[in-house]
Amino acid sequence: MPTTSGTRSSLGNFSRRLRDSCCDLRTQRDTSSSLTWLFRYAFPALVVSAGTVLLVLRFAVAPQVKAYVEDARLDSFALAGTRGSFSAYNISASVALTVRNLNGAMDMTYTRPLVATFLFHDRRLYNVTVADEGHRHKPLKREAYLLHTGGEGPYVLDAAAAEEFEKQNATGVFEMEMRLSGVITLGLGNKRGLELSCPLTLQRPETGPDVVVFHEIDCEPDRPKKIVF
Ligand SMILES: *[C@@H]1O[C@H](CO)[C@@H](O)[C@H](O)[C@H]1NC(C)=O
Ligand SMILES: *[C@@H]1O[C@H](CO)[C@@H](O)[C@H](O)[C@H]1NC(C)=O
Ligand SMILES: *[C@@H]1O[C@H](CO)[C@@H](O)[C@H](O)[C@H]1NC(C)=O
Repeated sequence: MPTTSGTRSSLGNFSRRLRDSCCDLRTQRDTSSSLTWLFRYAFPALVVSAGTVLLVLRFAVAPQVKAYVEDARLDSFALAGTRGSFSAYNISASVALTVRNLNGAMDMTYTRPLVATFLFHDRRLYNVTVADEGHRHKPLKREAYLLHTGGEGPYVLDAAAAEEFEKQNATGVFEMEMRLSGVITLGLGNKRGLELSCPLTLQRPETGPDVVVFHEIDCEPDRPKKIVF
């Protein structure tokens, strides 16, 4: 009897051990399959989503700048003589420009000066520095600049632009362009070239108390343009 019971109990032990090892095996298999699952699906998914977040930060949340001209007036645009075979003009304008950092979280830094280039008929007249290199622009802040330009002239226009001047002078309204160009960085080396075009429709200066009203215009993002002169 004791033998039987001994056998039974050792059989019982054996079957318990068998069951245990079976269950160990199963948990082992479970563990390894969940590891496989992690490596096969979860990690790549994590890597992909982390990559996406980085890409979004790098490109979608790109430094965004809005610029608009609140006021502009032409102080002079008149023939002032000739330079060789070209006509030279006294040109002077005043522009109230507002630049806004649209990013709500980060400063942007001008890594090159923000320059306004004044053009007539795609001819460069002059440049004005709007913001200096290294200037930090706070999130969501508007910065106002008063640009007084010209005065160093006279500026030379080629024959095509001079002809355009004659046409526009006859109407009393001049179509000029102010282009803003610069380079900004935001966050960790997110560097961007900035190129905005602000079309300016300017009345010939009136000799009198009349005040010409200028309607605010938005500057539109643009590609760098080939400028003659
Ligand atoms: C052009 O500007 C110069 C210097 O500012 C001035 O002496 C000259 O009279 C101006 N000419 C015209 C046509 O306005
Ligand atoms: C005006 O700025 C442009 C670039 O925006 C530059 O190529 C040009 O040399 C500048 N001209 C002057 C007179 O500073
Ligand atoms: C431009 O127009 C004004 C006003 O009509 C005129 O007095 C002036 O002579 C014109 N200038 C040129 C260079 O044609």
